[in-house]
Amino acid sequence: MKKILIATLAAGAMVVSLAACSGGGAGSGGGEGGGALVGVAMPTKSSERWIQDGDAVKKQLEDEGYKVDLQYAEDDIPTQVSQIENMITKGAEALIIASIDGTTLTQVLQDAADAEIPVIAYDRLIRDTENVSYYASFDNYKVGVQQANSVLNGLGLVDLDGAPVDGAPAGPFNIEMFAGSPDDNNATFFWDGAQDTLKPFLDAGTLVVKSGQTDFEQAATLRWDGETAQKRMENILTSSYSDGSKVNAVLSPYDGISRGIISALTDAGYSTGDEWPIISGQDAEIDSVKAIANTGEQYATIFKDTRKLATAAVEMTIAVLNDEEPEVNNEKDYDNGKFVVPSYLLESQIVVKDNVNEVLVESGYWTEEEIG
Ligand code: BGC
Repeated sequence: MKKILIATLAAGAMVVSLAACSGGGAGSGGGEGGGALVGVAMPTKSSERWIQDGDAVKKQLEDEGYKVDLQYAEDDIPTQVSQIENMITKGAEALIIASIDGTTLTQVLQDAADAEIPVIAYDRLIRDTENVSYYASFDNYKVGVQQANSVLNGLGLVDLDGAPVDGAPAGPFNIEMFAGSPDDNNATFFWDGAQDTLKPFLDAGTLVVKSGQTDFEQAATLRWDGETAQKRMENILTSSYSDGSKVNAVLSPYDGISRGIISALTDAGYSTGDEWPIISGQDAEIDSVKAIANTGEQYATIFKDTRKLATAAVEMTIAVLNDEEPEVNNEKDYDNGKFVVPSYLLESQIVVKDNVNEVLVESGYWTEEEIG
């Protein structure tokens, strides 16, 4: 007991003196950070989730006594690079980065390494560099599996865990498929998870891709842009469905893309109800949650709790700054082209109309009023 007490007192004194040395005064909120600066680079404010990520990371770091330089790059690669350069110049002691293009940070991360600044890859793997310490994300392959299962569930073919259901319809159902941004490492993980899950149904002819566009390259949506997706959907409707046939399902990897697809369908004269296709998504963005809960325009989304991801990244950062080994749970799947980056992966959940309350409201992610 006595030993523990002495150790605790000593540790306490150390934290106090560290804080005093680094002058962690105004706004640093106490905690063990002692006012050290952490740079947080996020891709864009155009998607709600990154705003929530940025806010959560900032708040959690500040609660621990760190100062935070949080920057958004509006999906412009040179802007992100110069923001990170700036963080290095300002004396950031660690960097948390959600990259726009996972392959474009090699030089700036070399500069970070030269200044001995550890780097945590946030949600998206940073590729082609040795200068990334750890990766915090979700099980991205599984997100893709869940996206496919949500589509199959909407068609009545499986339950939400992907188990076949009795008396499932024989189809065939027309499906069209979208992928995310080809420069985002996550996009191929989502696509692979979804394709492996859909394959048996495609092979059996239960699902048919009338456009014939079944390759990742054909399905990819640069920068996850909703308007790009809308145009592609319009083209597909014109080229492959002008004969009066209908699209029954659309695999979409992200809510913003789903909303583009929905606009194309509406413009082409589809109306909600029986002829409206089953559409998946990701991120539980509020407009898409409304579309699931209220209008039925979207069938499902994948909920990835950004608060938990922020916690994982912040814990990793603090551990690294204290020369401790952060907790990881995957050391095999995320090879960035140079090495397998030790990762901590979180679990995601499928959200459909029936569990909106349980998953999103009860967890405090959205309120009932926000959903409407
Ligand atoms: C994230 C997704 C998000 C997408 C578009 C991906 O890297 O993992 O959650 O939907 O980017 O912002």
